[in-house]
Amino acid sequence: MNAETRPGAILVTGGAGFIGSAVIRHLLSATEAIIINLDKLTYAANRTAVAENEKHPRHRFVKACITDREALRTIFDQYRPDAVMHLAAESHVDRSIDRPADFITTNIVGTVVLLEVIREYLASSRGRKPPCFRFHHISTDEVFGSLGPEGRFSEMSPYAPRSPYAASKAASDHLVRAWHETYGVPVVLSNCCNNYGPWQFPEKLIPLMIVKALDYEKLPIYGGGEQIRDWLHVDDHARALHMILTRGRQGESYNVGADCERRNVEVVEAICDLLDESRPAAGKPPRRELITYVRDRPGHDSRYAIDATKTRSELGWRPQESFSSGLAATVRWYLDHAKWWRNIDSYRGARLGLDIAEAATS
Ligand SMILES: NC(=O)c1ccc[n+]([C@@H]2O[C@H](COP(=O)([O-])OP(=O)(O)OC[C@H]3O[C@@H](n4cnc5c(N)ncnc54)[C@H](O)[C@@H]3O)[C@@H](O)[C@H]2O)c1
Repeated sequence: MNAETRPGAILVTGGAGFIGSAVIRHLLSATEAIIINLDKLTYAANRTAVAENEKHPRHRFVKACITDREALRTIFDQYRPDAVMHLAAESHVDRSIDRPADFITTNIVGTVVLLEVIREYLASSRGRKPPCFRFHHISTDEVFGSLGPEGRFSEMSPYAPRSPYAASKAASDHLVRAWHETYGVPVVLSNCCNNYGPWQFPEKLIPLMIVKALDYEKLPIYGGGEQIRDWLHVDDHARALHMILTRGRQGESYNVGADCERRNVEVVEAICDLLDESRPAAGKPPRRELITYVRDRPGHDSRYAIDATKTRSELGWRPQESFSSGLAATVRWYLDHAKWWRNIDSYRGARLGLDIAEAATS
């Protein structure tokens, strides 16, 4: 049995979130490991996705905050994980503009608490299991800042975060490298572009536009909709993360992306067209007419693009989903899971990320 399939235990933080739940589904099917899902269950957590994974005999859910050192110690003592995939985070740029302190606490302080507990765990495990322990920090391309019309982010790109979210993730990337260099914690890092797919909380662009367009609500696009994002299906990201965890070189970082740049307005138009096709409504105009341009996000990065050559050539990873097939499948998924997103009480599609007075009137 190779390292990818050997039994053991993998701790996934943030496993009730969008990407974490996809990672857990992948690990449960691709490995024989016990998967410990540690999540605080914030507004962004997805209890339905957790409940589905809970049906699996190798899934263990622990409700805890990553800033809670004692809770983390208990988990490490009880399960003695062979690897940690760290996804727990506050993840929405607009919310980071409104409440930056939450991002500092979870994304920076939480990561340090976790690194410290891992350091203790490794020190107390000398000579015993786990011989090939690894900490995988899952991060974003937003740490590299904003690109002009040319070029792509490589692993060597300088860090230049511009939003509180991006800055908090940049800080945690640096801290993870520091714990590797200073204390010898075995780590690997990855920085990925924008994800889309099932179970994404409907505050992010693609699900927000799907649920609004379905109900013929206005489709607010920030600025002129010309910002460019590089898109990757969440299941392709989950497969990449598993490869990086098991095959990536220690201390290295890997960029993940599928060469799929799209202007925001193009993405929203594609969603409108897919819904017009699958849910036409007699007497209604095409959904593209619902698009309205609203005040831009403060400090909105204009373009992200990932160069994933290293991940492709060193690890053999390839995305399996094209943007058109992945987006069509995602639209179908949201239509089929309306019960889930219609029952989310914590968010009703309001504008976030302006100052409070403006948000109330926008
Ligand atoms: N979504 C993207 O496009 C994208 C792209 C690249 C990287 N990332 C990174 O991937 C990771 C996961 O992103 P996501 O989109 O799944 O986020 P998400 O917001 O959907 O999920 C985050 C999860 O973390 C949990 N969490 C938050 N604070 C916690 C705390 N203090 N203790 C324990 N659990 C806590 C939440 O309950 C939630 O289940 C993040 O680190 C993010 O920076 C996301």
